[in-house]
Amino acid sequence: MSQQLQGFIFDLDGVVVFTDKYHYLGWKRLADTQGWQLDEALGHQLRGVSRIPALEVILQHNGVSLSEDEKHRLAEIKNEYYKAYLHDINENDLYPGAVAFVELVRERGIKTALASASKNAETVLEALRLTHLFDAVVTGNDITRSKPDPQVFLLAAERLEVEPSRCVVFEDAYSGIEAARNAGMQAVGVGERDRLPNAPLCITDYSELSLGDLIERGLD
Ligand code: BG6
Ligand code: MG
Repeated sequence: MSQQLQGFIFDLDGVVVFTDKYHYLGWKRLADTQGWQLDEALGHQLRGVSRIPALEVILQHNGVSLSEDEKHRLAEIKNEYYKAYLHDINENDLYPGAVAFVELVRERGIKTALASASKNAETVLEALRLTHLFDAVVTGNDITRSKPDPQVFLLAAERLEVEPSRCVVFEDAYSGIEAARNAGMQAVGVGERDRLPNAPLCITDYSELSLGDLIERGLD
């Protein structure tokens, strides 16, 4: 039987590992020190968004304007907070069922890629010994444009040598689902439907998916 999908592309933060929580806590801590408003609703809007663009979302929300130098200085402080959280990450931070699902995908002969906007992605992969699960890894160090630009996913597909139309992306971010669609890829939302209204399908548990059907037919 012909296979619709030949490449599975996974975002990292909030899809494989619960590091989305630590990104939020890092921004929240920075916002508190600056007297800026930042709640969970705004935090969800930061999902998938690259470091400086994420800071710009917070600044705009608070009506604050800063020089480029000051933006970089403050983003670096948030990054130090975030890296401090990473010191303690362990298997309890893994999204339940994600590793087993990626392994199952690979057993079916499907190529897998990790595609994250984070410049810390490799640190997280190495800390949790996940690197071997992926045929290709694309991180924030490889891209110049933030999601919803499709760059990160198109580069992953190129490295997998799979046509974008034969790829499915797993994403927890509204911006990430947009990026997948802009790449001409299928997309599965990981998380609650109410914050991923743009995803054709949402899961909160990888066991909800019928892998054979997904590979053969895609989401159509
Ligand atoms: C994404 C996160 O994966 O990476 C965002 O969802 C984060 O919250 C972005 O801003 C960039 O991460 P980093 O580690 O390069 O600051
Ligand atoms: Mg994410």
